[in-house]
Amino acid sequence: MEKIRAAITGVGASLQDYILTNEELGKMVDTTDEWIMTRIGIKERRIIKEKDEGASFVGAKAVSNLLEKTGTSPDEVDLLICATVTPDMQFPATGNIISDKVGIKNAFSFDVNAGCSGFLYALTTASKYVESGTNKKVVVVGAEKMSSIIDYTDRATCCIFGDGAAAVLLEPTTEECGIIDTKLQSDGVGRHHLHQKAGGSARPASHETVDAREHFVYQEGQHVFKWAVSNMADVSVEMMERNGMKSEDLTWFVPHQANMRIIEATAKRMGLDKKQVMINIEKYGNTTAATLPLCLYDWENQLRKGDNIILATFGAGFTWGAMYLKWAYDPR
Ligand code: UT7
Repeated sequence: MEKIRAAITGVGASLQDYILTNEELGKMVDTTDEWIMTRIGIKERRIIKEKDEGASFVGAKAVSNLLEKTGTSPDEVDLLICATVTPDMQFPATGNIISDKVGIKNAFSFDVNAGCSGFLYALTTASKYVESGTNKKVVVVGAEKMSSIIDYTDRATCCIFGDGAAAVLLEPTTEECGIIDTKLQSDGVGRHHLHQKAGGSARPASHETVDAREHFVYQEGQHVFKWAVSNMADVSVEMMERNGMKSEDLTWFVPHQANMRIIEATAKRMGLDKKQVMINIEKYGNTTAATLPLCLYDWENQLRKGDNIILATFGAGFTWGAMYLKWAYDPR
């Protein structure tokens, strides 16, 4: 029997109109465009301003865009997985809400929370449903409203994150393309260094937790930085080596967009030229589970069938991983 692989056959996205610039942040906290550009590499981020709208707002728009671009009817989708750390609510899953909003009725949907690695975890999970022959049209969406958990009085975190969503369609193929290899890892020891202290079952919301500003992202930046550089580079190099790839064989490297310095360090370890690396952190900041598909969205018109692509990520948990795939289509 021919081997069935899961191939990305389309990309969609949703970007909010509201742009939060470094200049505006400089009026909120003691920071400068120069510091943010030098230390992180971000110029601006998109923010959801609509009242009472959460991750599903942008997630549904991204999925609608994907279905429209690929000519897919909502009825054809048989699974939707949403990666997010900012679900609309604790339950039900944001994936259920997105499916309802876009009219996906013949599918099951659920959420994956793996911090910034959520999209790669969700894409890997989705690929198994496709490879097994169980599912034929699977949507994987990364959707975040990071602005809902950011303390805009904390200069160490508020410059980093942005809101956004992007989605891919995954379908079976027997051609020599699609997802070829994946490695995911996690180490819960990382929870001490990057987390949201309150709002879960261990510390439910109370006056005390709100007063102590515990519903925001808590991050020990330098510690996370060191883990991110070494683990994202290690797993990306391993992905190249175990697939017999040299740096010149790789068409594109798609790294999680957390910090320009992390991206540059990883690309250097892999021996890559900057021209091979997708970088859009300057425009969107760190959109957590949406960074990888937002890169694919921005570069979609430059991708060609057969391109060798490695995606890599690192995030809260800690979680990290890399995926090797061969792009499945030429620009439409
Ligand atoms: O995506 C999930 C995983 N997350 C990551 O990968 C993030 C990893 N970490 C980082 O990207 C970086 O550690 C940060 C961007 C968070 C911080 O950059 P850093 O170069 O590690 O800065 P730092 O925390 O060591 O702070 C250096 C100095 C401090 O001042 P003092 O103590 O030396 O006087 C900070 O108070 O920079 C100060 N600082 C700022 N100054 C101006 C921190 N944030 C700012 C700011 N503007 N926004």
